[in-house]
Amino acid sequence: MAAPREKDKDNTKLMEKIVSLCKRRGFIFQSSEIYGGINGFWDYGPLGAELKRNLRDAWWRAMTREREDVLGLDATIIMHPDIWKASGHVDTFCDMMVDCKKCKGRFRADHVGDIACPEKPSKCVGECDGEKTAPRPFNLMFKTHTGPLETADNVAYLRPETAQAIFAQFKNVLDTSRQKVPFGVCQIGKAFRNEITPKNFTFRSREFEQMELEFFIKPDEAIEAVCGEVAVWSEDADLSIPQDNWGWEMWHRYWVDQRTKFYESIGLGADVLAYYWQTPEDLAHYAKACVDILFKFPFGTDELEGIAARGDFDLSQHQKYSGKPQEFFDEKLKAALADWDEDKQLAFTGAKVAAARAKLDATTSNPTEQDYAECEKATRQWCERFFKGWYVPHVIEPSAGLDRLALAVLCAAYDEQEKTDAKGKVERVEIMRVHARISPIKVGVFPLLKNKPELVTKAREVHQLLKAHMNCFYDETGSIGKRYARQDEAGTPFCLTIDFETLGEADASLKDTVTVRHRDSNNQERMAISDLLPWLLARVQ
Ligand code: GAP
Repeated sequence: MAAPREKDKDNTKLMEKIVSLCKRRGFIFQSSEIYGGINGFWDYGPLGAELKRNLRDAWWRAMTREREDVLGLDATIIMHPDIWKASGHVDTFCDMMVDCKKCKGRFRADHVGDIACPEKPSKCVGECDGEKTAPRPFNLMFKTHTGPLETADNVAYLRPETAQAIFAQFKNVLDTSRQKVPFGVCQIGKAFRNEITPKNFTFRSREFEQMELEFFIKPDEAIEAVCGEVAVWSEDADLSIPQDNWGWEMWHRYWVDQRTKFYESIGLGADVLAYYWQTPEDLAHYAKACVDILFKFPFGTDELEGIAARGDFDLSQHQKYSGKPQEFFDEKLKAALADWDEDKQLAFTGAKVAAARAKLDATTSNPTEQDYAECEKATRQWCERFFKGWYVPHVIEPSAGLDRLALAVLCAAYDEQEKTDAKGKVERVEIMRVHARISPIKVGVFPLLKNKPELVTKAREVHQLLKAHMNCFYDETGSIGKRYARQDEAGTPFCLTIDFETLGEADASLKDTVTVRHRDSNNQERMAISDLLPWLLARVQ
């Protein structure tokens, strides 16, 4: 990992250096740059595209390929508009916005000090002290029309999150996969939000990629009925192997742990991460818990991923709006409830109704008699289905942003050093200490001299041998030191030099060996060409 952040007090300057390297080396470009760019949109150059692909693959592998209980999905960006009514996005996916009467700028209200955030000076946005309008909601969804007519009937939305497609396809996946709850469905794909103030490089963009898992679990009531108890989380709880008696709390903690391990596996450890546990006031009314995994960006510690326990809100909403049942039949629950007599069922139902009324009181101001009646009816219906073994699964949702992760990786990797060359000249060099598993280029292959055909032929052979298995870069121009430096900026963890010893000219015992140079330690070692592939694969996969 890079040297500790504290070494560079000037974080704005640090961010500028990272942005500049990203452009110079082809990690990230401004979208449509030749036309002046477009705010909130970014393109990934050759190195960035590889980095993103490696991150995407690492996430996909950890979340589904290496597990038996998570399946993948690849759904469309535009879906039936009713999905966004059911999810609440049409009515509530808004940021509060203000206009500046002086500079005519439009800002997020919580980014403007004197309106909603007294501790931030108003000049933090737009450097303008002009009077602001009262905050008003602004829906962040991009609207479009399907078909040739631009009428209200044809309105559609670019998805603002990938999650809803997973809920909408829950039944299809369940029916075709032979999975049983608990199981998950994950998806990686584009999401679009018409952010009022995109900022901090790619951190808040208008087009970005999400990597989301919806992990469907049994309601705690079902766990209790089947297992007789629901496991209670404690600091020393063993989260390594899921257990039958886990309710939402253990599953939530489990996924926080899994996601933390994932970040560690790509080089983002405890030194660069932080956690924010949402307070009851922060939480959506249906959510039981939510933790944000934060990364220490140079511009501040901010969200990388949210992990929410969302209850059965999403599937229940889709059940209500589509009229299609989104329930799971739980054979074990049916069997466990077989010996519940009428009294036990009545007592259970009574307690559920009382709890539902209390929740209504807590979440609704001045509920009406009709509200109470509807609440009771829904709860009784839920109990009837439950007694027959049916329920709408609950959900734990780890939701990460791929672009934010790429930015975090680039920020964590950035390091600079002073180096003195052979002539005594001191120069500043930049090194991207990207973890080998996700580095865009895994290995650089260099012939010592480009005008020695035997060296070039051998180097080409080594390049050919490796490139079928990993992204390699062949380079024969400039001094070896310059070639190392170019790969250091690209984040390449290993470089191989084919020299005269490889040809066995000076010492026959070194024939068919190469110099392996390690980016992070600058150490060099000799290795047989025949050992290279397994040695590299063990480090870069
Ligand atoms: N389905 C839940 C959901 O979408 P979210 O917190 O709004 O939750 C999840 O988004 C993740 O998506 C965030 O933690 C962040 O990494 C990423 N994300 C959200 N908005 C973004 C934006 N405007 N630009 C880049 N990434 C964004």
